[in-house]
Amino acid sequence: MPLAIISGTHWGDEGKGKIVDFISQKANMVIRAQGGSNAGHTVVVDTKKYVFHLIPSGILHPNIKCILGDGMVIDPADLLQEIQFLRENGWEDSLQRLFISEKAHLVMPYHRLFDQLQESFRQNSRIGTTGRGIGPAYEDKVSRWGIRAVDLFNMDSLKAKLQLVLNYKNILLEKVFEKPPLSFEKIFEQFENYSEQLKPYIVHVLPIIHDALATNQNIIIEGAQGTMLDLDHGTYPYVTSSHPVAAGSLLGAGLGPLSDIQSIGICKAYTSRVGEGPFPTECLDHTGEALRERGGEYGSTTGRPRRCGWLDGVVLKYAVQINALTSLVITKLDVLGGFSKIYFCTHYRIGNRISSELPIQPYDWKIAQPVYQELEGWESDISNIQYYNDLPRATRDYIEFIEDFIEIPVAILSVGQDRKSTIVRKEIF
Ligand code: GDP
Ligand code: IMO
Ligand code: MG
Repeated sequence: MPLAIISGTHWGDEGKGKIVDFISQKANMVIRAQGGSNAGHTVVVDTKKYVFHLIPSGILHPNIKCILGDGMVIDPADLLQEIQFLRENGWEDSLQRLFISEKAHLVMPYHRLFDQLQESFRQNSRIGTTGRGIGPAYEDKVSRWGIRAVDLFNMDSLKAKLQLVLNYKNILLEKVFEKPPLSFEKIFEQFENYSEQLKPYIVHVLPIIHDALATNQNIIIEGAQGTMLDLDHGTYPYVTSSHPVAAGSLLGAGLGPLSDIQSIGICKAYTSRVGEGPFPTECLDHTGEALRERGGEYGSTTGRPRRCGWLDGVVLKYAVQINALTSLVITKLDVLGGFSKIYFCTHYRIGNRISSELPIQPYDWKIAQPVYQELEGWESDISNIQYYNDLPRATRDYIEFIEDFIEIPVAILSVGQDRKSTIVRKEIF
């Protein structure tokens, strides 16, 4: 079955955008199924850098259909900015291949505001969100206050919905947060404008997706965030509000448990995290700094410095299980060049116990210490290498050690930002 689900194995920013763009060379469709503009997916083609927040990372390939799926939360202002960026950079034609699901929810101006207000209210317990209104938008979807893309087709009904929701939000704003209310007229006018601009892209996407499946086309579902940011399966409450795991991708794309899916994990050669929450392999010393500087580990969405550390194999093994991964992609391998030793976390020490499983208790997460396997590093710059066998012995040993540890194959290696800096061991399509 030519359906590949791409999921981040850790806390996001594993290089999913780069890999989706790379494998899109042989694909017909890329679907984003969850999350919103909290994602920042970087694609570099011939030194030109693109950062996609909502638009699928396959858009730069001719003929590929790009779908913003049912499970997403879409901020119209962010989307229009991305559309404008494509227009200004010579990609006007690509917009004919862009489709937005009618069922996708919209991120409203009050969602962003409540994201900030809730974070301030939490004080020392803040999540460290991207501030893009994602949590409040999913909250409204679940409590059935949500406004969907389809609502942009009927302004009378949108007016009534917005009036009701805004009355409620304004009571919260004034009475709970002691803030001025938001103007209905202003928001409605803004959305009349969004409606005009976005209606051409909003369609019933399910027939398009199912037709692609029926005709055996190559489809990629581009996960956003990462396994450990999953609302159910991540480091709750330090998670996002959607389901970045593979099952969430299927749900958000409107697909059932099809057999014979390729579930591909994207894993960075080391680990990073943005925002608050547990991170057992975080290096708070010069190693963390070196990884951040060499890897350019600053958020693609917020510019925040990312916390960095050695590769967490306990999380990786969990990601293999929970996403039913069939193969792995290891990115940013070039960044490790120059370290004399490389460390890979095989277990956690929790008090006087050694564990190969993730803790559940928040306290255990707090005290979990990594148990490392030490491996030889490599000195040389590997970023121009095209074939696996040309990599230094120590680099191959690191990859093969990981393969033995997780018991699934490493299909692709990434050794640089550019599309070309990619080593394929096993074709995806
Ligand atoms: P995503 O959210 O998973 O798509 O990842 P981001 O785009 O947020 O962050 C990954 C960063 O690493 C981006 O700046 C990419 O251009 C960059 N990148 C991806 N793969 C490689 C690689 O193999 N080597 C290097 N040096 N950079 C990479
Ligand atoms: P991509 O797709 C890294 C993190 C935030 C915060 C938590 C909740 O680029 O890998 P949210 O705004 O979603 O309510 O924030 O999740 N987060 C990400 N971290 N990469 C991302 O996306 C992220 N999207 C959300 O930093 O800790
Ligand atoms: Mg990112």
